[in-house]
Order: sequence, then C-alpha cells, then structure tokens
Amino acid sequence: MIYLDYSATTPLDPRVAAKWMDVETRVYANANSAHALGLASKAINDASLAVMAGFFGVPVESIIPTASAVEANNFALKGLALKYPKKRHVIVSALEHASLIGAAGYLAHQGYDVDTLPLTPQGLYDVEALDTLIRPDTLVVSLTAVDSETGSRQPIESCAERCRLHHVFFHTDLTQLVGKGSFDLSHVDLATVSAHKVYGPKGIGLLIKKPHVGIVPLLHGGHSVTPWRASTPPNGLLAAFAEALRLAHDEADQRLAIVQARHDQVIAGLRQQSRVTINQASQALPHFVNFSIVGTRPEEGLRYFSDHGICFSSKSACSGQDEKSVSVYAITGDEALAISSYRLGLSHLTTVTEIETFLSVLADYVGTL
Ligand SMILES: Cc1ncc(COP(=O)(O)O)c(C=O)c1O
Repeated sequence: MIYLDYSATTPLDPRVAAKWMDVETRVYANANSAHALGLASKAINDASLAVMAGFFGVPVESIIPTASAVEANNFALKGLALKYPKKRHVIVSALEHASLIGAAGYLAHQGYDVDTLPLTPQGLYDVEALDTLIRPDTLVVSLTAVDSETGSRQPIESCAERCRLHHVFFHTDLTQLVGKGSFDLSHVDLATVSAHKVYGPKGIGLLIKKPHVGIVPLLHGGHSVTPWRASTPPNGLLAAFAEALRLAHDEADQRLAIVQARHDQVIAGLRQQSRVTINQASQALPHFVNFSIVGTRPEEGLRYFSDHGICFSSKSACSGQDEKSVSVYAITGDEALAISSYRLGLSHLTTVTEIETFLSVLADYVGTL
C-alpha cells in the first residue's frame, strides 16, 4: 500500500516509539506521588514540557497537555466562555476543523453570536475585516493556521496582532502547521497542537495558553501536569511528543527539501493530465497537493485508487464527504472543481517510486472516464 494521506495522520517515528516505551516501562510512577519514583517521573515530565515550551517559544506554564487537538479546541472556546461569561461573541473561519466548528456551534446553541471571517479571492483570511467584525463583547477570534485541504498558510500572525490591538483573545489551531513550517506565537494567546500529525503518538495534544489568559478547566479532579487539566500524567506520551517535536526541529530543513522535491514531481505529473485541474492556493505548504477531476465523485475515485493500493483523501478526514470543498470553492469560484477535489498529503517518507506509481494509476483512472 502507498500512503499519501499524511495530513490526516502520520506513522509513529520508530525513534519516538522507542522513547515512549523506554519512559513508559522504566519511569512509570505517578508524577504526582511524593516518593522518590514519583519525583523521578516528575523530573522526566518537566524535561518534556521544557522541550515543548522551547519548540513553541512560550513559557513552560503555557503548556497544557490534552488527549487530542479536538479536546484542545473545545477547551479553548468553552474554557474561555466559562471564564468570561459577559463576552458573548466569537469569530471563526470557514476553514476550521470540525472540532472548532462544533465547539463554536455549541456556544451558538447557548445564545452566542458566531461570525465567520471572510476569505479573500486567494483563499486567505481577510485580515482587515476583523476590524469591522470585532465587537466590545467579542470573546475570542479562533482561526486555523493552515487550510487542511489546500495547505494555504494563513496570516495568523497579522490576525493575532489585530486582535491584540482590539484587546480580544486570539486562538489558532496549529495542528496542520507544526512540523511543516515556522510560526511566531508572540501575539497569539492560545494555540492547539496534536502529536499524531508530526510523527508522534495518537492520544496526546496540547492547548498552549499564555499566562495572562484566564480559563476554566473542563476536566476537574485535581492538579496533574498542570492545574488546568486533571488525570494521571502520561509520562511516556509526554516524552514521545517532546521527542517528535525535537526531531521535527532538528530535521526541519532535510524534511522540507524532500517534501518540496516530491511536491514538484507530483505537480509536473499532474500537469500532463488534461482532465486534471490543480487547485493551487496562495502561500501553500508543499506537503499538500489539491487537484480536481471534474465529472468524478471523489468517493468513487478514492475507491479506485485504494483498490490499486494507493491511499489518500478528498478532504479533511473529519469533514462531510458529500459537501463541496469550501477552500477549493474560495480559490476557484467553481462549483464543479469544488465537488470533485482530491487531497494528497506528502511527507519526507514519500518516495520517488511512490509518486511514479500514483501518477501511473492516475493516468489509468483518467483513461477509464
Ligand atoms: C486542523 C486540525 N485540528 C484538529 C484535528 C484533530 O486532531 P486530533 O486527532 O488530535 O484530535 C485535526 C486532525 O484531524 C486537524 O487537521
């Protein structure tokens, strides 16, 4: 099987797996225990949190481990809403992950106003529109850092600056950016991250929350790694996540060079196919390739590829597959392209041969149409 769906999830790096097993089997005491083994666990956890804080350039007390990015997104919106009950307005974008849209929808159900920031014809956030949308009762502006379909790197830094000027909290979902590109969190108040998109384990994410931001915990039950989320500290998962981030940092240039080469190879091949339209977004990360085959239904196309040993997707794994792609529609304005789009997720693990095989199966598929 050829896997070209690295934006949905990544395999666990064997070096990260080794770290996870080592810590989980050797340093297993509860880090909240006062005895010597508990203190040893706490020391390991503190070292993991310090690596994470260094990676994101935030104070160590900003790192709140969660079980996933879904949890972190829910925590950000609902935790802020509980803390600042007089602020009843939220701004999101149409590019958000289902968990963010779901949390905002929950607030809307409680009577909150939820506005959607418009996109420019390039599919990027209309930063200036924030000035008109932000109100005295705006609680938070929450905007994802990367469009998970086309890979467009969104101007989150400028949005964060705007929010700072208006004294409104800014939250960003960094899940699709970590390990793929750089970012600056100086003006960002809260951010969401997931380990399994960066060759770490599934089952751990982070909510980054700067110290000046108030929040009410969603899970009560005592002080854990932080006062903000209860549960026994997952020593092995924390160490594994920290290791995945360390490797992403140390190998960033090599990984990017390989991904860029594979991206260029795919694009050159797609250009040979007259039935294929490449949906090229502005500021797109090379890890994403979005294309449409007008007249096809993605679920049928994907089945053909899967039957020929190639796995990728049409949209984010968490979105409804029957709807048109908001992102593709934003950049093309073309309904036919937006309902027939496919997404490849590339990695430094992707090989030249895998791309050749994909292109050859694509040519066969197009030949069947
Ligand atoms: C932008 C974004 N946010 C959140 C998530 C959810 O991540 P997790 O599986 O850690 O909950 C994903 C992954 O599907 C994602 O792409």
